[in-house]
Amino acid sequence: MIDLNFKYSELIEVLSDEAPFTPDIALILGSGLGDFADRIEKLKTISSTSLPGYPPSTIVGHEGKIHFCRYAEKNILIFQGRIHFYEGYQLSQCLIPVFISYKLGIKKIFLTNAAGGVNLNFNSGDLMLITSFNGINIKKELTNFIGVSTIEGKNNFQNFPSVSLNNIIRKAALESNISLKEGVYWFNKGPAYETPAEIQMVGKMGGDAVGMSTAHEAVFAAYLGLETSSVSLITNMAAGISPNKLSHKEVTDTANLAKDKFESLVKNILKLI
Ligand code: HPA
Repeated sequence: MIDLNFKYSELIEVLSDEAPFTPDIALILGSGLGDFADRIEKLKTISSTSLPGYPPSTIVGHEGKIHFCRYAEKNILIFQGRIHFYEGYQLSQCLIPVFISYKLGIKKIFLTNAAGGVNLNFNSGDLMLITSFNGINIKKELTNFIGVSTIEGKNNFQNFPSVSLNNIIRKAALESNISLKEGVYWFNKGPAYETPAEIQMVGKMGGDAVGMSTAHEAVFAAYLGLETSSVSLITNMAAGISPNKLSHKEVTDTANLAKDKFESLVKNILKLI
């Protein structure tokens, strides 16, 4: 069992000393969505490389920066870039942004990611509110990897994803004139994209979108008692549905095209929270 309090005590100490305020909300920006951090007032930016024990990002478009931001009279902690299991890190390392949020006293965390569309009613460029997660027994994986039992702890699983946060996201989408899709996020450990046969299976088993992040962060946040909700940007249709060969470039190209829409949604969410 890994004691995150012990393992990351120095990191939390350094960050707490540097923090200009106590944040109300945390936001993790997924693949290609990092530019949102350039569109919001920043009071302070910390490079994750200056934090002892913070794993360096190895993925293009994941800056590894932590910003203390102000918007709509709220203090917001933004992680520009996340830590992925497929980068070779341990699951406990992938959970550091959620753990930091918890230790800084944050009560709400909003997770974003890029995902492949499996539901045939989706199109590349759509935004999808995550209604549930599947793919592996994520709660069991967490128990195996870091020794947390999801039936212990503060445990917010009766409200997972958060009903009130999800309703705020729906309202924010309406106000932004965005036709927000909804569905189940299927977690694939990666780093390889899925095969067309896997995508057929995912579709039959109720997955609407597939991606390589977020699920464990959401479960861990709920375990720690945080309210959590997540949105995916469908950056491509998944393997076998899309006629194109999947690539990280397609993911970042679509995310670039969807920048304004994403900004409008997130800012409305932050206003309404
Ligand atoms: N599969 C898995 N992860 C992804 C995809 C995909 O098609 N698109 C963006 N992230």
